[in-house]
Amino acid sequence: MSNGIDISVNLGGVTLRNPFLVGSGPTVKTVDHIRQAEDSGWGGVSVKLAIDPVPYLSLPPRYRWLKKQKLHIFTAEQRLTPGVSLDVVEKARKVTKDIAIFPNITYDGDDPEGWVKLAKRFENAGAHGIELNMCCPNMSFNLTTTGESTEKATGASLGSDLVELPKVVKKIVDSVSIPVIVKLTPEGGKIAQAAWQSLAAGAAAVGGVANRLGMADIDVRNPMGTIYRLQDSMTLGCLSGPWIRPLALRDTYEMRYYNGPDSFIIGSGGVSDLSSAVQQIMTGADAVWICTETMLHGFDWLPKTIEKLKTYMKEMGYSSIRDFRDLLHKNVADASGLKVHDGYAQVDLDKCTACGLCWNIGHCSSITHPEDTTTIDESTCAACSTCVDICAARAIAMVER
Ligand SMILES: Cc1cc2nc3c(=O)[nH]c(=O)nc-3n(C[C@H](O)[C@H](O)[C@H](O)COP(=O)(O)O)c2cc1C
Repeated sequence: MSNGIDISVNLGGVTLRNPFLVGSGPTVKTVDHIRQAEDSGWGGVSVKLAIDPVPYLSLPPRYRWLKKQKLHIFTAEQRLTPGVSLDVVEKARKVTKDIAIFPNITYDGDDPEGWVKLAKRFENAGAHGIELNMCCPNMSFNLTTTGESTEKATGASLGSDLVELPKVVKKIVDSVSIPVIVKLTPEGGKIAQAAWQSLAAGAAAVGGVANRLGMADIDVRNPMGTIYRLQDSMTLGCLSGPWIRPLALRDTYEMRYYNGPDSFIIGSGGVSDLSSAVQQIMTGADAVWICTETMLHGFDWLPKTIEKLKTYMKEMGYSSIRDFRDLLHKNVADASGLKVHDGYAQVDLDKCTACGLCWNIGHCSSITHPEDTTTIDESTCAACSTCVDICAARAIAMVER
């Protein structure tokens, strides 16, 4: 607590000094990573996915950061074995004290008891909580989506199975005494319901991964070429980064809306600065997982962001995260209750350069250009406001009738 502002949050009895968590991924694979994250003030880390038995999909990482689109995509990724991850958790617990450590795990054997055994091993290694990977779209979900037949149901496949998911969650919750976090996929369109099932089965927290499978831009002159270096063929890739924010906010909003104010929800997807973190909190997140930004820029930007968060909270009159969590909910109207004012677009001819951009709007017949002068017919204007956004000279504004 500083200056009456408390940014800590409580996840199932574990106090996180702030809501910033390094999301499971390539920046949480070693003890050094965790130590660096602690030094930079992060509230917690989720260790890179460990699969038992040994990962059936684990290739040298192939990533692309498409700067223009602000989109990260990966097709190949290296997972951890349980042995490596257990070692990291055990050693990191000995050399850190202010950061919470959550191993991200999945079990892929035939006997469901394997989940329990795996979770217990991590509990014994000192994990603050267990994070169940019900989200990765780049394992069995990718295989089935790209036409391969597989019996496996890991990551996003299991996370979108509303029958099997709660059985697995309950089994683990009943067997360990540390909090269980369920990280869910939006694939399948039922993330809010999957969150509900997980919470009903006893999970201490749920969250959304935001990642979706997609295809990055195709080179139309060389369509069989791949955008990935040192990789022969193209496949569906796992998408993340700032471009995904609107979808990620929806995931968080839906989970909060459906599950009420008492559940602990972790949001993720394109969080890279103060504003994107606050937006997640306002749509319902208690904490945020951040991965892509830590891949591109490391951990050290967080202290400044935390300072900015405290200043922002002071200016806004918030003393805790809870004060502005869900703030948006009161203001999200259902589609039928939307209040739409009557109005039209008005052009300021002193600013208009007659560039013609607004003359070609396909759905609009209210804008004409007699003698190259932009004219908007107020009586037929539907007030959609596309012309305002398209105008390079900022010469058009909406006015209320
Ligand atoms: C390269 C890469 C590897 C990832 N590996 C994991 C993982 O092992 N387990 C997991 O639950 N999430 C994993 N994620 C998902 C991230 O933790 C995060 O939830 C997601 O990417 C959205 O946040 P971001 O836009 O900040 O990356 C991975 C993401 C990326 C980009």
